[in-house]
Amino acid sequence: MPPAAPPPLAPTKPKPQHWDIQRAVRKNILALAPYRCARDDYDQGILLDANENALGHALPAANGDSSVTDTSFDDLDLHRYPSPTHYDVKQRLCELRGVPSPHNFFLGVGSDEVIDLLFRIACVPGRDRALVCPPTYGMYSVCAQVNDVEIVKVDLDVEGGKFRPKVDEINRTLSAAAKSDNPIKLIYLCSPGNPTGTLIPLDDVRAILANPDYEGLVVVDEAYIDFASRDKSAVELLVNEGWSNLVIMQTLSKGFGLAAIRLGIAISSPELIQVLNNIKAPYNISTPTASLALRALSPQGLSAFRQNISTLLSNRSYLASALLSLPSIIALPGAGDANFLLAQVAGRDGRPDNARAKEVYTHMAERDRVVVRFRGNEVGCEACLRITVGTRDECERVVERLRELLQ
Ligand SMILES: Cc1ncc(COP(=O)(O)O)c(C=O)c1O
Repeated sequence: MPPAAPPPLAPTKPKPQHWDIQRAVRKNILALAPYRCARDDYDQGILLDANENALGHALPAANGDSSVTDTSFDDLDLHRYPSPTHYDVKQRLCELRGVPSPHNFFLGVGSDEVIDLLFRIACVPGRDRALVCPPTYGMYSVCAQVNDVEIVKVDLDVEGGKFRPKVDEINRTLSAAAKSDNPIKLIYLCSPGNPTGTLIPLDDVRAILANPDYEGLVVVDEAYIDFASRDKSAVELLVNEGWSNLVIMQTLSKGFGLAAIRLGIAISSPELIQVLNNIKAPYNISTPTASLALRALSPQGLSAFRQNISTLLSNRSYLASALLSLPSIIALPGAGDANFLLAQVAGRDGRPDNARAKEVYTHMAERDRVVVRFRGNEVGCEACLRITVGTRDECERVVERLRELLQ
């Protein structure tokens, strides 16, 4: 039986004071009468209300055959539509992240769905704009284009691989846009960044949240937060400081190692979460996904998660020092706060050499089947390979291959 809905939270006073959800969210979205699905009304009894298949699913029994479905799914009522709310998963996330209520959580089909939905609630196509800070995650721009939203770029300060937002320039850009016909309504900050691996200081986020001219949303994408060496999640800004214009995105794809189940998370004020819930597809999160998420968030799941993080952090330290011992790796730009490192490849003259980095990348992928990501065309990442921290054996193999190729 799904858990009862938790009690609603009292409406909060918006912070910053000038901010108003009525101006941050598109008018047509605010006016939406959301679809009411069968499971919103009743979920017990003889359920003849959702046109499901009364005979149940027709999946063959596993019978020890590993090529067919895992039998552990058989008691999941797969013939029924899933819960539209998944409060049980959200309750466990509250405990893990120190967030007061399940009403502060939205669940999406990966954070990629959340990114897209945020464009759809905040930006009027063909008019409003969104701001990103390259080098950054490519899906922000892809979703912008899909939604006919123009992207404004304010590059990170990449000097010496520090990858820090230029807060003054961002705020000047936001203030100027606010006076134009094409206001900026959405900002994506990635912390720790992809591909920078660098946390954004919370003071930088605060300075943007507090911009008195900005009426849009500030999104902090924390896909890699579980690998950050210090406790620097922007959740603190929401829970302890109450910024209403802040959305934090997290995911089970990285630290929890569950990329296949597609579970992304948005954490924000209950008012904004309600808007996201109003526009999502009624049953976006499947029952198998929710069931696996509950297992991952159980006490045993969390203990395995913490063990895996600790192993990956130790592999990351090994990989960092091994890479720096290689002849032509001249730097690891960024702070290395995620589950990957940027390694900068030099040419024979000791300077960053993009062509050589690309050659090494292609050679490794095609000849050695060791696949990393070439990131040399991104701002501040000249001649950089982005290398995911793998098992200890995988880390040793990639270092070995690089050593041979860079001799
Ligand atoms: C910064 C960042 N955000 C979001 C995502 C997407 O995560 P999900 O698997 O939850 O869609 C990725 C995936 O690589 C990422 O690097």
